[in-house]
Amino acid sequence: MRRAILAANWKMYKTTGEAEDFVARFLPHVARADDVDVVLAPPFTALDRVGRRLAGSPVALAAQNVSPEAEGAFTGEVAPRMLADLGCRYAIVGHSERRALFGDTDARVARKAAALFAAGIRPIVCVGETLEQREAGRTLEVLGSQLAGSLAQVPAERAAELVLAYEPVWAIGTGRTATPELAQQAHAFLRVRLAERFGAAAERIRIQYGGSVKPDNVSALMAQPDIDGALVGGASLDPEAFARIVHFRTGGKSA
Ligand code: 13P
Repeated sequence: MRRAILAANWKMYKTTGEAEDFVARFLPHVARADDVDVVLAPPFTALDRVGRRLAGSPVALAAQNVSPEAEGAFTGEVAPRMLADLGCRYAIVGHSERRALFGDTDARVARKAAALFAAGIRPIVCVGETLEQREAGRTLEVLGSQLAGSLAQVPAERAAELVLAYEPVWAIGTGRTATPELAQQAHAFLRVRLAERFGAAAERIRIQYGGSVKPDNVSALMAQPDIDGALVGGASLDPEAFARIVHFRTGGKSA
């Protein structure tokens, strides 16, 4: 049985004060130890403050990106060890926005994931097809090649710690969620490929769905056998909405 993992990707939203405000309002909803992993990925500038506020809570800290390099003359970059130093337990790599807007290739994503493992941080590796690719019937081909390329350097003995996120680009920020059945098809395909690559460990790898996840659609998505979590953008910016997503099993109620 895989433990569900619900992660908030705040993207480029929230100053430090706004981030602290969120945490103060969100933590009471997750006070008791639950049977899910909850993760917050604020922008780099808020990692330290959010991390301090989360200390002693069941909520884990994540970064939204990382440099594949250990250190050096890389102006504007942030190294894995710096994230570990702030208490990051996860980091998102290969998000479609980074792939589309900042030139992250599968090869670069693979290096980032390997660098994270080396620093003791679990990568959340994102894959997903565009609308054009889906309409051309190329979804599985695209997912297969992103998966193979992005996971090329994952150490086999650490594979179970990996988190994969299936985020169809056409569902991100559009309000157009993949149906649970459509998402399940993609997740099942990804799990087969993971099994080919990592054997039995594939059954332990969590695969999140991302793309317009909201409090009112999360339960149906999570009911699918290969959907083990959600990576949430817009709806994660509001503490009450994200709390309802975290409590998907009880219809959004925290008690
Ligand atoms: P939305 O939930 O806003 O569609 O964003 C999804 C996403 O990109 C999470 O990484």
